[in-house]
Amino acid sequence: MIKDWKSKYSEIMKDFEGYSIGKIFKYLNNPEIISLAGGLPSPDMFLKSGMRKASEKLLADNLEKVFQYSSVPGEVDFIRAIIEFLKRDDIHLEAENVVITSSGQHGLDLTGRLFLNPGDLIMLDRPTFAGAIVAFQMQNPQIIGIDIEADGPNVDEYRKKLQKMSKTPKFIYVVPDFQNPTGITTSLKKRETLLDLSYEFDIPIVEDSPYRDLRYSGTSIPSIFSLDQKRKGKNVIGLYTFSKIFCPGIRVGFNIGPKIVIEKMSNIKGGNILNTPKYNQDLCKAFLTEMDYDAHMEKCRNYYSEKLNVFLQTMEKYFPPEMGVTWTKPEGGLFLWVSLPEKIDTMKLFYEAIKFKVAFVPGDAFYGENPAKNHMRINFSFATKEQIAEAVKRLSDCVKAQL
Ligand SMILES: Cc1ncc(COP(=O)(O)O)c(C=O)c1O
Repeated sequence: MIKDWKSKYSEIMKDFEGYSIGKIFKYLNNPEIISLAGGLPSPDMFLKSGMRKASEKLLADNLEKVFQYSSVPGEVDFIRAIIEFLKRDDIHLEAENVVITSSGQHGLDLTGRLFLNPGDLIMLDRPTFAGAIVAFQMQNPQIIGIDIEADGPNVDEYRKKLQKMSKTPKFIYVVPDFQNPTGITTSLKKRETLLDLSYEFDIPIVEDSPYRDLRYSGTSIPSIFSLDQKRKGKNVIGLYTFSKIFCPGIRVGFNIGPKIVIEKMSNIKGGNILNTPKYNQDLCKAFLTEMDYDAHMEKCRNYYSEKLNVFLQTMEKYFPPEMGVTWTKPEGGLFLWVSLPEKIDTMKLFYEAIKFKVAFVPGDAFYGENPAKNHMRINFSFATKEQIAEAVKRLSDCVKAQL
């Protein structure tokens, strides 16, 4: 019998603790708890009849191929559909610039594996997406976090830090549209400045875009990828997923970038999952080409923006200014960020909130280093409008008890 499994773990994995958010979900089994914690899109927005129809067609016409191994970079027809889809966003690609991933998390994993040696530097916002942090941490990099501002990354601080560094970071990771966890959108000026920094310091930008088409107000801002293409650069890697606009259970996404990078990511994919299930890719292709994408997105936008409004209006009612609580007002996406007085530790508050039958994600998880303790991430897409209003009331009672 092995006496000490731990002594056999790899150096990198020895201290790796996985997804910190995962650990709080076990507290949410009580159905009386209203959870604003998970990042779940609403199943009300699943295209049930479109999915059924496309599934039946696949199984009737193509069952043998659908359940066979398939190509590592992804199905040719699906990649073609993605190339067409991205043209709407002024992104122009060839098949060699696209690799299908088994979701956004896999796209992040491929990015970390391709670029990072232990100890390498990467730069990202404070806070930023916890799943990206955990994917990159698997390679044990040194994370340099820069506090995000209301209009996106603090590009002046990025520049100052870059000027002082003896070693160039491997990449800058950003979520410019309705960032998870804050809901913040990066201004056009800052997107351009991030590109300036990328050219000046020779650093790739990794642009993660799961929420880009979920805009409820304001006007769309060009992606950094498209701005880079306009400037004839090849400095950006784009990460996309079908999780929030179609459904997360299908686990399909794609990465885009220069041929040399995509080829390498595809090689890595061959070594880690081999291929993304063809059935799932075919369903996503049907989503893009047969399920009236525009009408579906319009429906999602109306549905989620109503929930966001309920959240924001109820917050105004139950969190008067004297409570010292502030929150972001996102123009899209699924999340917003609540900041509490500094004396409140939201990890401790989480356990109190459970007693009040409401849940959120404590902010700690969204920091690559030196976490701030007094924030929480709120998801407004999953709970019903009635539950959202009730959850805010419970949250207010819980916070008042701590003040
Ligand atoms: C910014 C960001 N990137 C990537 C993902 C990963 O999405 P998935 O792996 O579900 O496709 C998420 C999910 O919440 C996200 O918010």
